[in-house]
Amino acid sequence: MSDDSRPSPPAGPPAARTAAVIPAAGRGVRLGPGAPKALRALGGTPMLIHAVRAMAASRAVSLVVVVAPPEGAAEVRSLLDAHALPERTDFVVVPGGQSRQESVRLGLDALPPGHDIVLVHDAARPLVPVDTVDAVIEAVREGAPAVVPALPLADTVKQVEPARAPGEPEPVVATPERARLRAVQTPQGFDRETLVRAHRTVTGDVTDDAGMVEQLGLTVVAVPGHEEAFKVTRPLDLVLAEAVLARRRLNDGF
Ligand code: C5P
Repeated sequence: MSDDSRPSPPAGPPAARTAAVIPAAGRGVRLGPGAPKALRALGGTPMLIHAVRAMAASRAVSLVVVVAPPEGAAEVRSLLDAHALPERTDFVVVPGGQSRQESVRLGLDALPPGHDIVLVHDAARPLVPVDTVDAVIEAVREGAPAVVPALPLADTVKQVEPARAPGEPEPVVATPERARLRAVQTPQGFDRETLVRAHRTVTGDVTDDAGMVEQLGLTVVAVPGHEEAFKVTRPLDLVLAEAVLARRRLNDGF
């Protein structure tokens, strides 16, 4: 077949370029003693490398900014250099801060112009499938200022009056309707200007970036998340992550 018979690319403006910021500066104390969480091995490869590959697997992502532990930027740079990564993607490493929020802001500060969509993805979610990444990017392209992948909950959730001492019984104060609750994952996707504004203006305790955009009064939308995008937090999560990797290897015919 000659080149002439191929359909020409669609007319119109080029698709917005996407950058991914990966905060990886946490110590991960809930996993137990050892290396910073992002540098722990999963299937023989550091969790962070899995997370970087998961972002770079999307053809829309042309830049990945890794936010390293404050003293570990050089180590993370060597780690990236030592592992095979797609050539079409650029990789930048910057040192992180004291909180996740500060680490993400430092990652945003390192973004060059020309990337209008930004993903923020926890290094602690190494196994998110590329279809989930692409679904988040697509929803931002369609006009949402902020997008989160989310899953329905298996457990009923109770709001409690937190105990004053560990182990004390906690009075239950409310039971939100489970069908309206979602567990939110990453990558969260943003119109870049909106996310930068949120990080400039919103202060206080936040556990995710979309929550900051909500505080600007903008609408955040949820798209279907994936069970393999779980966060590796506790030792049992490492066992599950190894099992997911083993299943993938089997399916890929390794
Ligand atoms: O602690 P948590 O599991 O919520 O952390 C989520 C992500 O934020 C992790 O990938 C962690 O490395 C990152 N983080 C960071 N800088 C901090 C604290 C956490 O980049 N100071």
